[in-house]
Amino acid sequence: MDAFDAILGRRSIRRYTAASVPDALVMELLQAAMSAPSAGNQQPWHFVVIADRRLCEEIASFHPYAQMVREAPVAILVCGDLRLESYRGYWMQDCSAATQNILLAAHARGLGAVWVGVYPKEDRVGRFRTLLKLPAQVIPLALVPVGFPAEHLPAANRFNLSRVHRDRW
Ligand SMILES: Cc1cc2nc3c(=O)[nH]c(=O)nc-3n(C[C@H](O)[C@H](O)[C@H](O)COP(=O)(O)O)c2cc1C
Repeated sequence: MDAFDAILGRRSIRRYTAASVPDALVMELLQAAMSAPSAGNQQPWHFVVIADRRLCEEIASFHPYAQMVREAPVAILVCGDLRLESYRGYWMQDCSAATQNILLAAHARGLGAVWVGVYPKEDRVGRFRTLLKLPAQVIPLALVPVGFPAEHLPAANRFNLSRVHRDRW
């Protein structure tokens, strides 16, 4: 799939078939994630691949907007590691770029995915920290449930010329 088609055609997919996602595809998504740009190329990320059904049920029990994780065969938790930061304060942007790459790669491979927000909600960060035994310097940014899509959403055209400014506001 052409990169521009992937960008314009990607939507948040929250319904999935029962088919499992082959690990080779998960690895491709992680390869895309780790190809993201980062400040000074610091790559301050870690990824937790979650397929255990009990963990998925537990996540759905504490995250009000993550009910789709019950149905998703796999989910990727994108985390920032403060000890890997050379340029302090940029981890969120770096990990957000990695998250977006996962979404685009999933769409390009015929998978469906959605960005589920974790950071900066302290309660969600704490619950993931306890559930997955994350080290203290590791902060979960976003959960990305992934599966083969059981819903198909049309491309959303959000181009808005009123948000474009040339040379000055
Ligand atoms: C930072 C962030 C947090 C989000 N959190 C959630 C979430 O917790 N649950 C959810 O279902 N969708 C979540 N979304 C997905 C948005 O709802 C979605 O991207 C938006 O409605 C636009 O729809 P689209 O992705 O289909 O284009 C989040 C997206 C972002 C960027």
